[in-house]
Amino acid sequence: MLTGSTPEGPEVIWCLPGCIRGNSSALPQSPQLFKQILMVAGMDRYFQIVRCFRDEDLRADRQPEFTRLDIEMSFVDQEAVMDMMEEMMAHLYDALLGVKLETPFLRLSYDEAMERFGSDKPDLRFAMELTDISREVQNSDFKVFASVAAGGGCVKGINAKGCGFYSRKDLDDLTKYAGIFGARGMAWFIVTDDGGVKSPIAKFFNEEQTKAILDRMQAKPGDLLLFVADKKTVACNALGNLRLEIARRQNLMQSGVHRFLWVTDFPLLEYDEEEGRYTAMHHPFTSPRDEDLPMLAEKPGAVKAKAYDMVLNGVELGGGSIRIHRRDVQEQMFGLLGFSTESAYEKFGYLLNAFEFGTPPHGGIAFGIDRMVMMMTGGDTIRDVIAFPKTQSAACLMTNAPNEVAPQQLRELSIGLNLPEKKKE
Ligand code: AMO
Ligand code: AMP
Repeated sequence: MLTGSTPEGPEVIWCLPGCIRGNSSALPQSPQLFKQILMVAGMDRYFQIVRCFRDEDLRADRQPEFTRLDIEMSFVDQEAVMDMMEEMMAHLYDALLGVKLETPFLRLSYDEAMERFGSDKPDLRFAMELTDISREVQNSDFKVFASVAAGGGCVKGINAKGCGFYSRKDLDDLTKYAGIFGARGMAWFIVTDDGGVKSPIAKFFNEEQTKAILDRMQAKPGDLLLFVADKKTVACNALGNLRLEIARRQNLMQSGVHRFLWVTDFPLLEYDEEEGRYTAMHHPFTSPRDEDLPMLAEKPGAVKAKAYDMVLNGVELGGGSIRIHRRDVQEQMFGLLGFSTESAYEKFGYLLNAFEFGTPPHGGIAFGIDRMVMMMTGGDTIRDVIAFPKTQSAACLMTNAPNEVAPQQLRELSIGLNLPEKKKE
């Protein structure tokens, strides 16, 4: 159900389908497409509170069934959406918690967030930023670092301030942890009281190189420096996760601190190595930035989107975008995603054709209401704020759903099952 009103007109009430999305579906049946179509049809704005069902890996802030606040508006740009949404958030925090939020929220581009925090949803309650030391190590005798720096990768590190007391076991555990995120190794320096370095790889760096690394990392005696050398994406992701792990161990994630920000300028497309084609990072209707349009044909991987996420303390509260409203751009986008012109028109002809009739620029956003409640109540998991949460395997403990379906019900829907045989006990 959704409602909307215009300053002049009466309230409009519509019913839209909810959202069902599977991991494997190339094009999600998302409420955002339905709300986009309303804007294309001339409605100027609306919101809905909608149930969503998603087949995704569960995490502390994810459930297969959740509730969203979905918003869409005509004649808006990215700034207008962000301004309005942070005003809404400031109002909610004030009215519900008595907390005054400072607006405007900080804005970080996706590239900067990845570069500095190794995450597209950085937790800003603590610093521990990623530092690039490729230049400082490129001429060292440590082959791993020198070869990665020379080969177009990067060597980055974080300074875990005051963590020089970590044991060999702690460091081995952290190395294993970095491996989960693709790092082929993790090197460490413990800064000693005399300003020197304790590390299995210390011998590969001369005095000058060691000093340059310590200066660049703003290291003091007692600090622990962790380094990963790899492709930039891998190094940033592994260090971003190490940064969070150190923060958890050192209790740096203070409760009662609300560090909101916007992450903007996401890449429009991601290259899927397995499928050998581009996929949309947000969804196929997200608009490229105007200044990047000329690159769409030649360098699609470099194009940034008019997409934005609102992030609080390392959790994505909401995400949205300005949508494509031009037929030629949408056709080009479908082409990049591997659709032939015929299949694009077969599936989305109603949209592509409608773009010819004066579709206004439009955009929107969706917030996870359960996640917002989790953050407002200071919880660690969304399960605590959802009635009848599902288990890790998406089962409902109260009703035992999903359960067996009677043959009669299957027959009515002409569904045949071909289940693997149950293992004998
Ligand atoms: P997105 O996929 O980022 O955006 O979803 C929007 C918000 O919904 C919440 N959310 C979830 N909450 C709990 N469990 C889940 N499994 C889950 N998945 C998402 C998050 C997230 O920020 N089409 C866009 C919206 C748009 O463009 O308007 C979209 O679906 O808080
Ligand atoms: P190796 O040469 O593999 O025995 O590694 C020697 C040291 O370098 C160990 O401390 C490794 O953890 C570290 N190391 C290896 N590969 C990397 C890498 N890609 N990034 C950071 N450190 C690494």
